[in-house]
Amino acid sequence: MKYAEITGWGKCIPPATLTNEDLATFVDTSDEWITSRTGIKARRISHVNTAELAALAAKRALATAGIDPEEVDLIAVATSCPDTLIPNTSSKVQQILGAHNAAAFDLNSACTGFLYALQNATAQVRMGAIKKAIVIGAERMSWFVNWSRRETCVLFGDGAGAVVIEATDKPVGLLEAKLGCDSQARDILEVRGFGTDMDRYENPPTALDINFIGQDIFKRAVKAMGAGATHVTEKANLSIDDIDLLVPHQANLRIIAALQKQFKLADENVMVNIDKYGNTSAATIPIALCEAVEQGRVKPDANIMTAAFGAGLTWGAGYIKWGERVTPIAKCDDELPANDKTAKELLSTAIDYCLSKQNSEQ
Ligand code: UT7
Repeated sequence: MKYAEITGWGKCIPPATLTNEDLATFVDTSDEWITSRTGIKARRISHVNTAELAALAAKRALATAGIDPEEVDLIAVATSCPDTLIPNTSSKVQQILGAHNAAAFDLNSACTGFLYALQNATAQVRMGAIKKAIVIGAERMSWFVNWSRRETCVLFGDGAGAVVIEATDKPVGLLEAKLGCDSQARDILEVRGFGTDMDRYENPPTALDINFIGQDIFKRAVKAMGAGATHVTEKANLSIDDIDLLVPHQANLRIIAALQKQFKLADENVMVNIDKYGNTSAATIPIALCEAVEQGRVKPDANIMTAAFGAGLTWGAGYIKWGERVTPIAKCDDELPANDKTAKELLSTAIDYCLSKQNSEQ
């Protein structure tokens, strides 16, 4: 039986930072409200498209794994923010990397997308169909955000994270996963007007907008992530004491705290970085995992639990057994193209558009 070891990890965090104080200059909110209700202090605003974020995270993951792009059999990009609907974002990533031998697919399961993609790629390795894959979560959520709506605009951010998985005989990698979808509630989190649902002639797309019923999602998220993680723990024959690190989706610190309480985990066993990046949707888990390794919080042979939820309402949990190596084989020196604008400058057209539209509707 083959397994799929995580041998590489990388992230791409765009430099422009939008703080809670920045937001309070144009919407009716405050650092106090955002911090106490969500745990978020800042989020990043990208000056490049999703594929560029994804490709740089992937390059860094390839370097830590010490493998060449030509060796990669599959590139899976979990995203809800594709650069174009056709062609897919993963083909652009393949082009940027020069990973000419890789199949390339995009996967949209919103914030749960990375877990879905990791489970899929792992299954392909384990059945012997492929040997090496890059699994990426990459999002440019700022593109969707309506900057006049304080209920949503404070939550999201941009970024990408990636892992390389490789076939091995050692029992490591994603060993258990439970994925699901609470479709009864699929309408409580949506971006309307982007797809064949819309009438493209009567109502051509203008500004897109994330709509959701926060409290309902909150409750369903706590329930689904808890149930998923419990299922995975039991199937893997793990006790709570066996879990070295929980790497949860970063949507709200209070959701993470509820999961932490359910599993009776100490703070040092829970990876939290929502304060710096906000909710980067499918990118939160690979970014958090990568950062946990970089910070020395993933030890050799570590037992890592992960759980996510997102639009759909998709949900999932996974048990990752880390391998021996926690240090990179090599380092990638590539950077994003230079950006000399502040986050507010990058967003100025979008903010002006959203605020004037809101004023004209009042
Ligand atoms: O990854 C999936 C994406 N979705 C989510 O993760 C959403 C999950 N839900 C949540 O994280 C929380 O429900 C939110 C953070 C979205 C909202 O927190 P909440 O504690 O559920 O607040 P609420 O919606 O019940 O609103 C409470 C009050 C309201 O005012 P009133 O009616 O009590 O006067 C809101 O208008 O807070 C107000 N409010 C704000 N105030 C200042 C809502 N957003 C803001 C804001 N700043 N940004």
